[in-house]
Amino acid sequence: MKLIEKIQNKTAVIGVIGLGYVGLPMAVTVARKGYKVIGVDVSEYAVTHVNAGQNYIGNVDDDELKELVDKGMLRATFDYTEIKRAKLVLDTRLACGGQKAANLVRM
Ligand SMILES: NC(=O)c1ccc[n+]([C@@H]2O[C@H](COP(=O)([O-])OP(=O)(O)OC[C@H]3O[C@@H](n4cnc5c(N)ncnc54)[C@H](O)[C@@H]3O)[C@@H](O)[C@H]2O)c1
Repeated sequence: MKLIEKIQNKTAVIGVIGLGYVGLPMAVTVARKGYKVIGVDVSEYAVTHVNAGQNYIGNVDDDELKELVDKGMLRATFDYTEIKRAKLVLDTRLACGGQKAANLVRM
């Protein structure tokens, strides 16, 4: 199946690298739209809090984050190999200065 079809029928898994002020709201927004999201972060604090459905960023709704995690729509990991399952990866580490808020990498 082509990537565009996987996006249209929402079977494409989406990866987000970095679950901070840019990445976590982005991950929640994508999961809210019906895509499964795998978030990768090097921070134990970020990974454990996301997987517990606990918000640590002001602009993410606590209840929505918990619901998406409980439904299996959003999961965080340290393990970069898991992101190989993702068809699209949003890498927030690359966002800086006058550039776009995030860069999109096709896997
Ligand atoms: N927050 C903003 O309003 C804003 C605006 C413009 C640009 N930016 C840029 O966007 C980028 C992200 O900003 P932010 O505010 O989300 O930062 P943040 O510090 O809130 O979050 C960054 C996250 O990335 C994680 N991380 C760092 N290295 C990693 C790696 N190698 N692999 C996986 N995860 C890693 C950190 O643990 C952290 O959770 C930065 O480059 C920043 O300069 C941010």
